[in-house]
Amino acid sequence: MSEPMAAVAGRPNEAASQAPLISMRDIRKSYGSVHALRGASLDVLPGEVVALVGDNGAGKSTLVKVMAGVIGFDSGDYLLEGQPAKIRTPADATALGIQTVYQDLSLCNNLDAVQNLFLGRELTGPRWFGRRVRRAECEVRAREVLARMRLGSLSLTRPVGAMSGGQRQNIAIARSILWTPKVVIFDEPTAALSHSAAAQVAALIRSLADDGLGVVVVSHDIHHFVVNSTDRIEVMRLGGNVASFRSKDVTGEQVVNAMVGGNEGANLAV
Ligand SMILES: Nc1ncnc2c1ncn2[C@@H]1O[C@H](COP(=O)(O)OP(=O)(O)OP(=O)(O)O)[C@@H](O)[C@H]1O
Ligand SMILES: [Mg+2]
Repeated sequence: MSEPMAAVAGRPNEAASQAPLISMRDIRKSYGSVHALRGASLDVLPGEVVALVGDNGAGKSTLVKVMAGVIGFDSGDYLLEGQPAKIRTPADATALGIQTVYQDLSLCNNLDAVQNLFLGRELTGPRWFGRRVRRAECEVRAREVLARMRLGSLSLTRPVGAMSGGQRQNIAIARSILWTPKVVIFDEPTAALSHSAAAQVAALIRSLADDGLGVVVVSHDIHHFVVNSTDRIEVMRLGGNVASFRSKDVTGEQVVNAMVGGNEGANLAV
């Protein structure tokens, strides 16, 4: 039998000499009679990319939504840098340094890269000046961030609706790091991208971790992205954790086996 599911989750691995940025323990969340999370756990460490994988309905998005303040949870502990996280809304999560890049990217197609980067958080002038958007300053800041991400060739003035999927994903990533977060959460960042665009996004995600951020990636791209471009893999099933692997020690097949059943309780990450 596979229980207790939560017991194998989120144990410190070799990178865990540093304290976790986020530590979720035994998180439970039900929608009426549907138990979306039945004691899910996850640690997010600085400098590490952790993949959250599992079959459809395993509870990945629900756990991410709890992390990002989109929904609350029924019981369990959510610690941020060792303290109970006071996160009730997505704005709380953002203010505390947790950024989420959702699958739909939430970009405005008719706006350009600069406008999208600063959407809702524009640098504005003083009130007596009508809080006019300081476009020039926004552009300088946008250029800095894109240059840091080695995306200096991206057009700042073309509507993002006219850009490729990979370019749009890059803009969504740039927007997430504009306000120097501690943790960035990605929902399926390489889905529907060409091989080369996915490789570029994977490199960007790695560079975030290299800068010391904690990165969480929900992905179904097990055989490519997950095993090749992450550090640790947490496998969820039926709202709980069933296995934990160090990415370099595992094959895609082993991860898929854990997702669908078999090798319960594997914890090769320790
Ligand atoms: N708002 C909701 N109301 C009722 N049930 C929900 C709600 N959100 C999620 N669930 C249920 O909770 C379970 C976990 O869903 P979740 O979206 O977290 O899965 P997932 O791992 O992200 O799956 P996928 O890979 O398909 O995105 C599913 O059974 C789902 O039907
Ligand atoms: Mg989901």
